[in-house]
Amino acid sequence: MKIVIAGTGYVGLVTGACLSEVGHNVTCIDVDYEKIEKLKLGISPIYEPNLEELIVKNYKEGKLNFSTDYETEYKDCDIVFIGVGTPERSDGSANLDYIFKVLNQIARSVEKDCLVVMKSTVPVGTNDRAELYLKEHLKNNVKVEVASNPEFLAQGTAVLDTLNASRIVIGVESEEAKNKLLEVYERFKQPLVITNRRSAEMIKYASNDFLALKISFINEIANLCEKVGANIEDVTKGMSYDTRIGNKFLNAGIGYGGSCFPKDTKALHWLSNDNEYELKTIKATIEVNENQKYKLFRKAKELYGELKGKNVAILGLTFKPGTDDLREAPSIPNVRRLLEEGAIIKAYDSVGEENFKKIYKEEITYCNSIENAIHKAELVFIFTEWKEVKEFELDKYKVMCNEDVVILDGRNCYRIDDMKNRNLNYYSIGREFIKRNK
Ligand code: UDX
Repeated sequence: MKIVIAGTGYVGLVTGACLSEVGHNVTCIDVDYEKIEKLKLGISPIYEPNLEELIVKNYKEGKLNFSTDYETEYKDCDIVFIGVGTPERSDGSANLDYIFKVLNQIARSVEKDCLVVMKSTVPVGTNDRAELYLKEHLKNNVKVEVASNPEFLAQGTAVLDTLNASRIVIGVESEEAKNKLLEVYERFKQPLVITNRRSAEMIKYASNDFLALKISFINEIANLCEKVGANIEDVTKGMSYDTRIGNKFLNAGIGYGGSCFPKDTKALHWLSNDNEYELKTIKATIEVNENQKYKLFRKAKELYGELKGKNVAILGLTFKPGTDDLREAPSIPNVRRLLEEGAIIKAYDSVGEENFKKIYKEEITYCNSIENAIHKAELVFIFTEWKEVKEFELDKYKVMCNEDVVILDGRNCYRIDDMKNRNLNYYSIGREFIKRNK
């Protein structure tokens, strides 16, 4: 079975590497020549644990290949997985331009029957449209069918999430398509959900949006905890023993970022409006998250009024640990506001720094250690719970920062008692605000 993957972003590349790892012959296609050449040298364009190792190993073994020549690759393939981006349009809807560009290339190139599998997150009904489009644009007299097979990988654990997926969702309209996909996933032992295309598409949105809703819900409870003197961590612990609730995705913080939740909540909201229905819970999820992003900034303003000339340290820039991705990272709009206020910013995030420099280069000072970033700081903002930040020796805040420093922790990295014992000003999410005794 010859498998071709369109797109070497997170979804495409991880899918390609993992399918070759379980024994398939896979070729990953991308229009970006440089990216493909680097991949052939074993260099991954994204920071993702275990990915580069899989790429190198399977490329050497001849099971994984990379090419820009889509015409040759599509010509005689059995399955094409589409893993290109579906970015957000200004109205919140999903932009399907890349998808249709790939479909056009497939339609013009295929010379034998093949199955096109949609891995990208697409609005309900897109797979039907895709099949129609292919049929209308086919150059040769072959049979092409479309199936939906959404992925559920999270950045930072993408390889693990793919090889040990919680479930494999297959959305098909024929036995033939179903059997082909069952053959692809033969070696995977996870539960299979076999359904029609529209339900598979909806499973992906509903799953992501439910997780986003869980985060916004707990963030609202955390905000209320601060007002009524409750502690969000004890609250979530108390909730989580109820197995109907569980203990996952209940970490309060400064909101969700990344390439999926912000985009997929807006896309589903748009889709519901387009179908003359309002998803009230998703609308609220989006609003709560938008507001939550600026929680630390608002606190800093409340405490100081003026932030002009204040020495600010920023720890963590990426939207979560384990990735260099900055998409929808709360750090970005907060840095913008801090700069507008005239704050002097020093930042530390060894993984996210390079990408952040593409947004702000000269405006902030990048440091090579937490110590350097917090030196003489009057405010410390924690935007990402990197292990290094969580394990940082707390006494150093005392020694290195300005005496009156306020640590604003957007990811609840430290224990309240530890901060109390060190007599530090410490504000976190949904917990008691610790104020230093002078
Ligand atoms: C997510 C989904 O987890 C994955 O299944 C889907 O395929 C793509 O979207 P990802 O965006 O990589 O994956 O990261 P995830 O770990 O889910 O975190 C998303 C955001 O939510 C991060 O900003 C994270 O900080 C935030 N989050 C997560 C919380 O604020 N609290 C939590 O309890 C969990």
